[in-house]
Amino acid sequence: MILVSGGAGYIGSNTIIALSEMGYTDILSVDNYSNSNPDAYKRLEKITGKPILHINCDLSDRESALSVFQEHKIEGIIHFAALKSVPESVQDPALYYRNNVNALINLIDAAEKYSIKKFIFSSSCTVYGTPEKLPVEESTPFGKAESPYGLTKQLGEMILENYCLINKAFRAISLRYFNPAGAHESGLTGEVMTKRPNNLVPILAQQAAGLREKITVFGNDYNTKDGSCVRDYIHVSDIAEAHVLAYKHLEQMTENYDVFNLGSGSGNTTLEVVLSFEKENALNLNYEIGGRRSGDVEKIYASNKKAKEVLGWKPKRDLKEIVRSAWRWQQNSPD
Ligand SMILES: NC(=O)c1ccc[n+]([C@@H]2O[C@H](COP(=O)([O-])OP(=O)(O)OC[C@H]3O[C@@H](n4cnc5c(N)ncnc54)[C@H](O)[C@@H]3O)[C@@H](O)[C@H]2O)c1
Repeated sequence: MILVSGGAGYIGSNTIIALSEMGYTDILSVDNYSNSNPDAYKRLEKITGKPILHINCDLSDRESALSVFQEHKIEGIIHFAALKSVPESVQDPALYYRNNVNALINLIDAAEKYSIKKFIFSSSCTVYGTPEKLPVEESTPFGKAESPYGLTKQLGEMILENYCLINKAFRAISLRYFNPAGAHESGLTGEVMTKRPNNLVPILAQQAAGLREKITVFGNDYNTKDGSCVRDYIHVSDIAEAHVLAYKHLEQMTENYDVFNLGSGSGNTTLEVVLSFEKENALNLNYEIGGRRSGDVEKIYASNKKAKEVLGWKPKRDLKEIVRSAWRWQQNSPD
């Protein structure tokens, strides 16, 4: 059985779909619904046609986390459960250190106790800080952590890498996502907005739905094709499929720890995303051009060469599919 932590969340739920489509049906989702809702399982069951076994548990609490492993025979862990809002992490750093780092430590503790050898960790391009060279390769060293959230991802990777040095039978992969966006093609599952989103595509979808008055594009004088910032948007279903490939790859690894970027390999400007959202969904967004926002990096996009070569992964969905599916989901979304 594979334990998917944070399986009711945005990327976790899409990964449950991908696992199920690729033949892994024995799955246990563990979530405390701090940023999701157990209703997600009803939607997942509709898509997969199978019941989703799930437990309500705060993985940052050691006893609760270990109790899950007493009751279920777990073969591997795909660990999504974390808090992910950069501004919230700046307001309450200890909440982020405690939740994100403790949950990881408790899962490693459980892996040690129950001889679990396979582990996939959700990391982020935030570990690079502001890289000097583009596209960003995995060999780029960690930058200065720009937020408590970013620090929890750096710490998570460092803990896993260090644990792999000690426990040679343990195999772990950290996947560094760039900008996950879009929703499952059915329009039945996507990102649940229990908090105000900070990501561009859900903000556009909310404006289109009339939940925001207007959108501001921060800056049009950067050194990019239209002057707005460049980010690497990658479809959530492509990210989900990469997890299944990474999980399979754990068995063939020569070293017992590795990291992979998950990005499209090229970037899109903010304005390109806005215009594509309008065109693909045949609607008008209310947006304005504002000044630069402090702390914004001009451009960042991934080299995805390693994931392609080693995992055999290939992003299949483009920006058009991202903005179409995001709008489809917004129209069906329970919030
Ligand atoms: N979405 C992004 O833009 C992005 C980018 C890079 C990395 N990531 C990472 O990917 C992972 C998944 O992100 P997501 O977008 O699906 O977020 P999400 O908030 O939708 O999902 C995370 C899930 O984890 C659960 N959770 C949080 N703390 C928990 C705890 N202590 N015990 C049990 N469950 C807990 C939440 O309730 C939620 O369902 C996170 O680790 C996040 O940091 C996300």
